[in-house]
Parts: sequence; C-alpha cells; structure tokens
Amino acid sequence: MTTFQDVFGSRPEVYARAPGRVNLLGEHTDYNDGFVLPIAIPQSTRVAMRRSAGARSRVHAVAYDRTVEFAPGTDAPAGEDNPFARYVSGTLIEAAHEGFQVPALDILVASDVPIGVGLSSSAALEVAVLRALRELLELDLDDVRIAQVAQRAEIEHAGVRCGIMDQMASSLADTRSALFLDTRTLRRQLIPLPEGSSVLVMDSGVARSLATSGYNQRRAECEAAAAALGVPALRDVEYVSAVEQLGDETLRRRARHVVSENQRVLSAAAGCDARGFGTLMNASHASLRDDYEVSVPEVDRLVELLQQHPAVFGARMTGAGWGGACVALCQAGMQEDVARTVLPAYAASGGRGRALVPEFEDKEGR
Ligand code: GLA
Repeated sequence: MTTFQDVFGSRPEVYARAPGRVNLLGEHTDYNDGFVLPIAIPQSTRVAMRRSAGARSRVHAVAYDRTVEFAPGTDAPAGEDNPFARYVSGTLIEAAHEGFQVPALDILVASDVPIGVGLSSSAALEVAVLRALRELLELDLDDVRIAQVAQRAEIEHAGVRCGIMDQMASSLADTRSALFLDTRTLRRQLIPLPEGSSVLVMDSGVARSLATSGYNQRRAECEAAAAALGVPALRDVEYVSAVEQLGDETLRRRARHVVSENQRVLSAAAGCDARGFGTLMNASHASLRDDYEVSVPEVDRLVELLQQHPAVFGARMTGAGWGGACVALCQAGMQEDVARTVLPAYAASGGRGRALVPEFEDKEGR
C-alpha cells in the first residue's frame, strides 16, 4: 500500500485513526435534540500528518491515488478525483475558527470505511484529521469538542445539515459497547450489547443518490412539526398521541416516527435482552419505512430477509436512508452464517449486497 514516505518523501510526524459507526437505534432523532444509540465498526480511517515545508497544504487519498493542494484557510477544490480533500480542508478551516493556528500540512489518508453507505466515512475522516492535528500541535481539544468541530465541518463544507451523532460516535464509541447519547445535553453512557448478541452490517448495494436533498427536507419537516406543536424540538414531545393533533398528514407521520424512535432508544438504554432489542430494531425499520419514508424497496427486502433468519434478533436500515447499509443484531458468532444465507436470497430477488464484516470479506476474496 502507498505510504506517506512514498508520496511526500519522508516520514510523517503523527498518525491518528478514527472508526466509522453503525447506528443501532435512534435514526433521524439527533437533529430533533433526541436520543441515539450508535456503535463503532471495526473499519476505520487513518491519517498521517506533518507540517509542510511549503506554503500550501497537500492531501493524498490512497483510495483515489490523488494529491490535492490548497492554501491553508481555504477549501480544497471540489472534485470527484479526491473527494476526501474537501472534508480535510473543511475540518482544518473549522479548527482554525476555534482559534488554533493551523499551518500548511502534508496529509495522507487511508480508509477501509465503506463510502456512501451510511457508515459515517466522512465523520471518521474529520475526527481522524482532528486527532492528528491535536497531537501534532498539542492542542487543548477534548473528544467532545472534536466531534463538535467535525460536525461544523460537515455542515459548513459538505452542505448536510446533519446532527452530531456520527461525529460523537466516531470520537467516543468503541466496537464493544453502544454509545447512548442525549444529543441535547450530550450526556452519554456506554452500554454493552445485549448478552449473546453481535452486530452484522450489510450493504444493500443501492447508492444513496437523494440522500442530501431528502435529508435536509426531512429536517425542515421536523422543524415545521415542532413549530406547529409549539415545542422547541420534537424531543420535547413525550407521547406519540400528542402528534395526532397535527393537521398536516406528512408532518404528523414525520413527528410520529421521531417521537416513537426516541421512546425505542430509551427502552433499549433502560436495559433489555437481545430479543427485546431486536424487536425495537424491527419496529424502528417499520417506522422509517412507513412514517419517515426514507427506505427503498431493496433495503426493505434485505431487512426482511435478515429478520426472517432464525439467528437474527432484529434488523433495520441504518444511517440517513435512501439506500445504503442495514444492521442486524444476531446471535454472537453467527454473522457469517447469516450473511451466507441472506446474500444468495437477496441476489435471487435482484439485489447486489455484501456483508461488511472485514474477516468475511477477506475470506470471500473481495
Ligand atoms: C446522517 C447524519 C446524522 C443522523 C443520521 C440519521 O448520518 O449525519 O446526523 O441524522 O443521518 O439518523
């Protein structure tokens, strides 16, 4: 694999990494000041960094085999040939807005977080860059502030009015316990997975083409619903019955999803066994499909196949939606068996999915 030395001629000063995440419960709740329950995935983004000898920053993305240059304090040129560069430059600009002196840098990025499937490859990149920067410049920057700076990079420079779940998960979660987070107060607690269970992530193979516009539209609908109900955010609506007073059918359904989804996260965080947790995941999927309308038929099919498997406690779409990944809670150690049964059945109905389990992908020669 290409190294920092191959690209920039000598060694970096620091290395850092940050994981992608999969959200187990609490979808489209974070920008409503609600509750989420993501967990880190084994795949991560690695960054090597040093101060540059020149006046411009350079970002090399191994996956694209491209180096992009830009002046410190400016956005890297947008372009498909190195989409990583724009996130990096945006993150550095937001770090500078925090009052840190950010010099010209040489940066190498390598990642095995799947891109564009709802596993937060961009949050992993932003957090990894900020971790490297913290070490390089000995910055007084804690993990929560890293998540906040990373979120601003995403909003200001990638144009997604996202909540803070992804960046908090990448900055604070690990792969063994889920991060129960109150996105209003940022109070949080690590919660172990239910006993005897493990997480399986599968990609539906459907590209998320409408995700940015659809996402921003859902957010606007939630704000309209909160205003109509006279609350600061949908988080403040405690009972699902309260949304029935909304006259607008679309807003009523959006609000019903958010209020019920918050309740599901709180139930899971209060403690339940794998079967109970799985039941909450299944209900979450139905709500995202029917009320929030962010699923697509292929994802529904994959989720259905997962839910039918005897070793699966529950399954749902994960991330913003409009395609991308699904997550299942299955019996510990059964991920590969489940994938081996579900993939051919999904293929038979025309789907082109894959199991995002690193060891499984290695074995299958991907
Ligand atoms: C994206 C956003 C998150 C969150 C999810 C939906 O991943 O970046 O902030 O809103 O969608 O739950």
